[in-house]
Amino acid sequence: MNANDFLKDPRFKGIEPFEKKVWLASPTMHGEEQKWVDEAIRTNWVSTVGENINEVERQIAEYVGCSYAVGLSCGTSALHLATKLAGEKLYGQARPERGTLQGHKVFCSDVTFDASINPVAYEDGEAVFIDTEYDTWNMSPEALEKAFELYPDVRLIVTAHLYGTPGKMEEIKKIADAHGALIVEDAAESLGAKYRLGGKWVETGTLGQYNCISFNGNKIITGSAGGMFLTDSKEDADKVRKWSTQSREAAPWYQHEEIGYNYRMSNIIAGVIRGQIPYLEEHIAQKRAIWERYEAGLKDLPVKMNPWDREKSSPNFWLSCMIIDEDAMAPMVRGEQDYLYRSQSGKSSPQEILDAIAAINAEGRPIWKPMHMQPIYRSNAFVTTEGSGRGRSNAYIAGSGIDVGADIFRRGLCLPSDNKMTAEQQDRVIEIICNCFR
Ligand SMILES: Cc1ncc(COP(=O)(O)O)c(C=O)c1O
Repeated sequence: MNANDFLKDPRFKGIEPFEKKVWLASPTMHGEEQKWVDEAIRTNWVSTVGENINEVERQIAEYVGCSYAVGLSCGTSALHLATKLAGEKLYGQARPERGTLQGHKVFCSDVTFDASINPVAYEDGEAVFIDTEYDTWNMSPEALEKAFELYPDVRLIVTAHLYGTPGKMEEIKKIADAHGALIVEDAAESLGAKYRLGGKWVETGTLGQYNCISFNGNKIITGSAGGMFLTDSKEDADKVRKWSTQSREAAPWYQHEEIGYNYRMSNIIAGVIRGQIPYLEEHIAQKRAIWERYEAGLKDLPVKMNPWDREKSSPNFWLSCMIIDEDAMAPMVRGEQDYLYRSQSGKSSPQEILDAIAAINAEGRPIWKPMHMQPIYRSNAFVTTEGSGRGRSNAYIAGSGIDVGADIFRRGLCLPSDNKMTAEQQDRVIEIICNCFR
């Protein structure tokens, strides 16, 4: 069905598409970015050194409350080097053609973007996916505990804060400490989100031994690209800076004792980030207002917004999401690349709502498909609160339960969350969602 056909449905009559697309989360420029980019070009500092890089490293370290921030080409490169650093710390330096995690399992967030956990494979490790909890849609501490029962030798955890909502880090850190495990924290989506640890408010990006953020174009602030490794360890910061610039030694010629990468941030990208940093808090306030308007506008529907722990966290509200109550789910099936659903009175489904949103020229998105369901990782272990999440169904047992990650993917969706969306535009998005349930 195309957009025009969709809007012919009597439920949507009279709702007009937006002339200009309303995005899920697009860059918001303020003008100062241009100044710092121009300055870099004017002074010819357009490579991977320069004042913009120095400044954004200083300002982000100060904002987040860590000693060192290392500017990198993207969040993925930050996560790769963070994961490699953890692997080297745990298992020693690897030969150049091998990863540091070869022969080792790593416990990983399951409902996240694949860039969080692909670095485990880059380093030849094996990801074991940990199921999600319903309170914050992040790694379940209970499932993590179960995973340590099944795989007591594991010493590394990679955990993300989905959609800018901090996970249950107090519990996860306690479990990690009890098992002598290190944490790679993926705060790519959560820059500016706060968490109360031991009664003290801290920023996400300071909660693991190896912490990463992203300035991808869709993030809360952007450099068009870019990422950072955050740490209190000078030794780790120096190592990441070295690895990111092809692992050059202090010699007059190109001399290499370790494998290297071309992962350093450019001074042009850093200029864009430098112009964005003053607007981080403003973006968070706008995103929070969007989340709250959705909560109010959808309150009479059989749906809930993406949850967060109001006592222990303050998200950055990067993406607003909703989840449909089970008994209001209309039939919907998803294949590998396509989907099919049926409309039912008083009910709806994520794909129907996403089609309705697309029909008015706005952008939503399914919940990130869990890693344990991805074809590439289908043979990796997956652990729920009940133990292994693999091979649980049985021809002789009726109705075996669905795991939490798969359930949130099935019933949830990400809503247009662009901080330039006006209240009137958001009202129209809310109206079309309400009409899906008519
Ligand atoms: C959770 C998460 N981790 C990692 C990344 C990767 O960051 P980048 O795109 O900067 O490489 C992203 C987003 O892009 C992300 O959402």
